[in-house]
Amino acid sequence: MSTLILEEITETTGAMVNDFDAERLTADEHLPDAVSEALETFGVLIFPKLNASDEALVRFCRKLGTLIDFSHLPPETAEVMEISFDPSNPNAEYFASNRFWHIDGLLDEIAPKTSILTARVTSETGGETEFASTYAAYDDLSADEKELFADLRVVHTFEAVQRMTYHDPTPAQLEEWASRTVREHPLVWEHDSGRRSLVLGATASHIVGMDVDKGRSLLADLRDRTTGPGKVCRHSWSEGDTVIWDNTGLVHRVCDFDHAKPRVMHRSTVAGQEKIK
Ligand code: OGA
Ligand code: MN
Repeated sequence: MSTLILEEITETTGAMVNDFDAERLTADEHLPDAVSEALETFGVLIFPKLNASDEALVRFCRKLGTLIDFSHLPPETAEVMEISFDPSNPNAEYFASNRFWHIDGLLDEIAPKTSILTARVTSETGGETEFASTYAAYDDLSADEKELFADLRVVHTFEAVQRMTYHDPTPAQLEEWASRTVREHPLVWEHDSGRRSLVLGATASHIVGMDVDKGRSLLADLRDRTTGPGKVCRHSWSEGDTVIWDNTGLVHRVCDFDHAKPRVMHRSTVAGQEKIK
């Protein structure tokens, strides 16, 4: 049985994986189960200075599930997405919204299960990544809130997230945003495991059947409580660090940094299997 030497970071979120050699990514056949189990408990696993190659990471990630194919994006490595704000990156406009608390892929039919992010070039200052547990956020609700929220549904749009960055959109932006799929999700996700989490983040536009402003302030209040003092696991990157997180039970965001300087991250993403219900 594979063992991970884990050091808890906050009470609800994150663990450092100590004394871990990159060779285990491909050599340890029990590692995928150990990582999946630890993710269920800690949400985020940080492998400091792992210095693993994209190839070794992809080989390991394939054992966690089906990897999302990014071959339509640069670089050409199909299962590795480069995240940078360099203007030559065609997705820089879209990644600008990574600085708001979000869950990846809420506008897709099935949100990804696991993300694996590695720092290739770090920013001089800032650029940390923060995580907060949406399982803990549900558990922290009062009994009355749990009852009240049980049937609430939230509309998620691309426009909601883009408006946070682009306050005065051009007609072309508005048209492009309007062409994107809109998804409705319950506020409370009842996972197949039996655990419950909140479904929140920058894509949340409004609550179905509730006054728009009232719904928005409830969503903002829940986001603030989810990410309040003592609840955030913040990782300051060194080159070669790899972080693995459970996208279905956390919100995350990147902290401010100088976008004129390079910050290059490589991400692989394990597809989800469970619809939000
Ligand atoms: C992501 C993301 C944050 C970062 O890869 O989905 O939000 O720190 N990244 O680059
Ligand atoms: Mn993200």
